[in-house]
Amino acid sequence: MAYDLLGRPLRDLRISVTDNCNFRCTYCMPAEAFPADFPFVKGSQLLTFDEIGRVVEAAVSLGLKKVKLTGGEPLMRSLLPELILELKTRFPSLEVGLITNGLHLKALLHRLVAARLDSVTISIDSLDPDQFSELTGNGHRLETIVEAIEAAHQAFGAVKLNTVLLKGKNDDQIEPLARFFRRPGFRLRFIEFMDVGTLNRWSREQVVTGDEVLARLRALGTLTPVAKHHPGETSERWAWADGQGEVGFINSISRPFCGDCSRVRLGADGRLYTCLFSAVGHDLRTPLRAGADLGEMTALLRTLWTGRSDRYSELRTDGSGKRIEMFAVGG
Ligand code: GTP
Ligand code: 5AD
Ligand code: SF4
Ligand code: SF4
Repeated sequence: MAYDLLGRPLRDLRISVTDNCNFRCTYCMPAEAFPADFPFVKGSQLLTFDEIGRVVEAAVSLGLKKVKLTGGEPLMRSLLPELILELKTRFPSLEVGLITNGLHLKALLHRLVAARLDSVTISIDSLDPDQFSELTGNGHRLETIVEAIEAAHQAFGAVKLNTVLLKGKNDDQIEPLARFFRRPGFRLRFIEFMDVGTLNRWSREQVVTGDEVLARLRALGTLTPVAKHHPGETSERWAWADGQGEVGFINSISRPFCGDCSRVRLGADGRLYTCLFSAVGHDLRTPLRAGADLGEMTALLRTLWTGRSDRYSELRTDGSGKRIEMFAVGG
């Protein structure tokens, strides 16, 4: 096992398999800052699945329990089921999750299930078709995403849903979303808009706190708290007392959760980040391509993790510093 300077174990690896995305969510990749010809990581700059596998292998030897495949939009790498199958075959007890905007999910679902993917999280910020199109930037249809969510729920028996709330934009969707997904197997999480990156024009005034949302949801029915499944979990969980699913709150602004943060992030170009708000990543692609073996990769990861003291959300500086963009490290 590897522990960082604050005694936190390395438990989760979040792998951004591409920084590109087919959405342009206003709070993540606003269309004006990310034209179609934006220099996303491509070709030989991208880590291959084999190289990703070697990083996972090293992290597993340090105690890794879960991998989360993310982006950008991870399903833009349509061969992703091959990576999942490879990871599940080599490391059967490793949990492999996927976070997606849902656009290509239905088409790939049977291959993801066959590859033994463990869980899916889908983003859905509005149930109003026009608002959905506006928020996600590229004019995509809400119906496609709702169908993908239903199909994933059937295939996996459970799904997690992510809703980023922006005051005055989609906070009218709190009750409609909660009512629509108040069903067994659905975990709808409301996320406080974060000051991640430098391009999404974040301001504290736009944040809708989890406590505000919880107060509104209590008018819809009785909610009872659910204990976290492990200390590093991001969301505060509540169950509808009638057994009809769960809601959760990811309160990274109003109640940061760095104290138990066990997550490390691998960018699509092979840079490793020890915090979502890191300014710099550590290049793993060069040693991988120079032929570093398992022992060398494990030693490198151990050095990076044991030297870690990040707790950005708890310190929250004035936000003027350099920071990696969310799409480059996944959420
Ligand atoms: P898993 O347990 O891996 O399934 O992750 P999750 O369900 O807790 O998180 P998910 O990937 O669905 O992300 C939900 C929200 O939490 C996103 O807005 C993320 O950016 C945010 N988030 C996830 N990890 C961190 C983190 O380490 N720090 C902060 N500040 N926010 C995070
Ligand atoms: N603040 C909070 N959540 C964000 N996400 C993307 N950008 C932000 C932000 N600035 C969410 C996405 C997705 C998850 C990976 O992160 O909506 O659900
Ligand atoms: Fe794409 Fe997700 Fe960012 Fe939206 S939040 S632009 S779907 S990476
Ligand atoms: Fe972990 Fe950094 Fe997020 Fe804190 S801000 S929970 S240390 S990734």
